[in-house]
Formats: sequence, C-alpha cells, structure tokens
Amino acid sequence: MKSLRTLLGTWVVALLTAGCAFDREAYPQSSIHPTSDFAAVIHDLYVDIFWWTLGILVVVWVALAYILVRFRARPDQPVPKQIHGHMGLEIGWTVAPALIVVAIAIPTIQAVFSTQQGDPENAMVVDVIGHQYWWEFRYPDTGLVTANEVHIPVDRPVSFRISSADVIHSFWVPMLGGKRDANPVRMRPEGEDPTYNWIHLTAGETGTFWGQCAEFCGDSHSLMGFRVVVESDEEFQAWQAELAEPVVAPQAAAADTTEAPADAAPADAAPVQTAQVDPLVEQGRQIFHSQTCVACHAIAGTNAQGEIAPNLTLLGQRTSLAAGWLENTPENLVRWITAPQDIKPGALMPGVNVPGGNWPATNLTEEQVRAVAAYLYSLR
Ligand code: CUA
Repeated sequence: MKSLRTLLGTWVVALLTAGCAFDREAYPQSSIHPTSDFAAVIHDLYVDIFWWTLGILVVVWVALAYILVRFRARPDQPVPKQIHGHMGLEIGWTVAPALIVVAIAIPTIQAVFSTQQGDPENAMVVDVIGHQYWWEFRYPDTGLVTANEVHIPVDRPVSFRISSADVIHSFWVPMLGGKRDANPVRMRPEGEDPTYNWIHLTAGETGTFWGQCAEFCGDSHSLMGFRVVVESDEEFQAWQAELAEPVVAPQAAAADTTEAPADAAPADAAPVQTAQVDPLVEQGRQIFHSQTCVACHAIAGTNAQGEIAPNLTLLGQRTSLAAGWLENTPENLVRWITAPQDIKPGALMPGVNVPGGNWPATNLTEEQVRAVAAYLYSLR
C-alpha cells in the first residue's frame, strides 16, 4: 500500500512539473510555444506524434489491465489450456505498428523538407558563427556585426547561415527554430559554395527569445547561450542605424570641461552629452583602448577592431552578458572582467589574475575594472 502511495505521488509530481513547461515566461526555452513558421512545423509534428503515442499507451494499458484481471490466478484453478502462437494476433501486432510508423513517417519527411526550404535571395541573411563559448552574428547586407544577441525583424523571412570558427556547435532557439549544427566551414575555391547549414524562418511575434548551443563543444557548452530579439521593422532599422554609428563616450569630453547649459547643446552635433560624461566612463574608455582588450574585441567607431572575441558595440543595450549567461548589470560586468573563468570555465578571455587562452592576466586594479565596466555599460 505504501509503495502504491509512493508511485501515485511520483506520478502527480511528474504531471505537475510537466505542466510547468506551459509557463512561457518561467521556461523561456520551452519548445511548445512556437513563434515562427519553422517552429510551428516542428510543434505540429510533435503534437501529432504525441497523440499517436498516447493512443498506443491507452490501448496497451487497457489490454494489459483486462488481461491481468480477467486471467488472474484463482485458488484451486486448474492449469489453463496451453497454446502456442496466434496467427491473427501476430499479424495484427505486426501490421498495426507498421501502419503507425508510416503515419508518423509521412508528416515527418514532409516537415524535414518544408523546413529545408528557404529563399536566401529574398530573405535577410544573418551569419551565425559559433565560437567556444559565444555566438557571433553578422549581417552581410550591411556589414554590421554583433555578438550573443541578434536582432531580427518580425514577419520577415530571415535565413540564418550557420557555421563555426572552431568546433561543432548547434544553433537552437526553442521557440523560433533549430537545432542545426554549426560546422567549421573551410573556405572553398572562389565560386564554390561552402557547405553551410541554414535555418529559414519568419518570426511571427515580437519579443526576446532564448537560444542555446545544443551540441557538446567543451567545458562551457551548457553556458553558451544567446538571445534573439524580434522587433518591428522600424525598431530593427533604428537598432541597425545605432549599431552602424554608435554614440561612444566622446573623446572631446575630457578636454571640454566647460559646463555648457543643457539647453545650449547644438541639436545637430554628435557628442551632445559632452557636459555629462562620467569621469569613470572616460577613465574606462582610456584603459580599454590602450590595453590588449582591443586586440580581440571590436567597438564600432573606435580603434578597437579585434575580431576573435565578441563585438562589444552597444553592449550596454544587451539583456545578458557572457553569452546569455549573466544578466547585464554593471556588477555582473565587473565580475566577468575580473574572473571570466570562474563564471565560464575554458573562456579565452584573461581575467585580472588568471590568463585566458594565449593572453596573460590583465593585472587591472579593482578600480580600473570598475572603470572599464562603466565604460562598456555606457555603450548603449
Ligand atoms: Cu557550443 Cu555547445
């Protein structure tokens, strides 16, 4: 009786926790909330197969319960008649599963083909490049680059062209689509098409969607997340314009110590915030751009043009740090700059006291780290 209660209890808990996946806010990586045409195809297939398997479960359980009760051992019962095989049953339980497999295979194959179809000619192409352990996104149309948080317009076909800079990763945004492997693409001779993997989708809802690397790629595979920001076309254009010409803490600020009244700022001049530049931000800007940071990172509109680490343009606007792993707050940015490997084992970025990849420790003081964090956070 006690074991029956335990069994029932386990079932109730399992059912309740299974229900949690329906809470979209609490489970942003649930695939049962399709928000693109691609994800809808996958989800429809999933629902189809769910009903088939539920049907099989019911048939098997009902038959089992019937047999257990109807043919149970009774006291003083003689040995029942011994039989060997039953042609009808055997044909039945061979043919029925074969038909069910066919019924599942047809929509599955259709789904495979329909999710392979895309029109990169008319769609907006976005290059997705996996790195250990972060994501690079490039817009070949405009030459713009960002990292770990990609923006796309709603209701417009987008073709993600997926590759990797090192090992195999996998691009997956459960609510939008995936998974597709990000393979290292070797450059082919001119005119020959490298074998990229593609995901073609049209997002049907605005919002910020969580993505995750879905192929084991090293120590911090599980910490290799990203975000997809789906926004209106106007918002997307505005974001791209900002990315193309970001307002970086103006260099003139340090020299310009005159307290210009706010209403006297000329409307058409770019560095309008000169009077408000935070000295900490300015200090951080000087440290960042005079240290090895610029060898790996890029910030549009500055001397930082490194390409082997995440592009930091508009970093302050992003919702997360460290490839989707930390909330983007100044405090977390300080933590990250101080000791990246503590947060993400195997990260190639050097910390204050610990080298990263081929790079020596930065030896920044706590105050300098705060300054750099303040500067990066100001990029918005
Ligand atoms: Cu990248 Cu797992």
